[in-house]
Amino acid sequence: MVNEQYKLLGRKVEDLRQKEDFYPTPKYVTEALLNNYHFTGKIWEPACGDGRLSEVLLQHYKDVESSDLVDRGYGQGGVDFLTSTKTAPNIITNPPFHLAYEFIVQGLKLSEKCLALLLPIRYLTGKKRAKLYAKFPPAKVIVIPNKVDFLGFGSPAMEFAWFVWEKGVTQTTITWADVQDADLKEKREK
Ligand SMILES: C[S@@+](CC[C@H](N)C(=O)[O-])C[C@H]1O[C@@H](n2cnc3c(N)ncnc32)[C@H](O)[C@@H]1O
Repeated sequence: MVNEQYKLLGRKVEDLRQKEDFYPTPKYVTEALLNNYHFTGKIWEPACGDGRLSEVLLQHYKDVESSDLVDRGYGQGGVDFLTSTKTAPNIITNPPFHLAYEFIVQGLKLSEKCLALLLPIRYLTGKKRAKLYAKFPPAKVIVIPNKVDFLGFGSPAMEFAWFVWEKGVTQTTITWADVQDADLKEKREK
């Protein structure tokens, strides 16, 4: 609906994209990851935005560090993940989608045990990504069974999954998250 209105105004739909790709993750989407994967050790959320994802992680894990390129009043601002050199046992984020490939490559370098990224399901495809996945197959793909409405505009267009890489695991398993109607309702009402 919003897209249609925008086209009528003669603007490109891409112009609708949030600055720095700021799309906060709904709580039920983070819970879909945590219900299907257990992390051990410290977690770094390197593109934390306003802390939407980090706050859910903190309900389950004590040791969570948060940073972002942009200072949004949560975690440490001014930290470019793509030029960072420090490592962490686990890295979890919903990255800016225009930099998704770079986040995968950098995340694989900097995570000691596990990397979990929320990505559009179509990121399973693509020649360049296929080459990367052949070398580094995700251990688990956790499918979110509904289209994710990040901004609450209604009529979301894209399907997502958590792509989880685990050091030493080279077989990919696919799981469909059990998302309850109540979770979706809670999300819509926010
Ligand atoms: C899709 S939003 C997700 C925010 C948060 N992870 C969440 O799930 O609610 C992507 C975030 O990546 C941040 N970002 C963009 N480029 C970045 C970079 N090079 N290094 C770190 N953060 C970056 C943006 O500022 C934005 O907050």
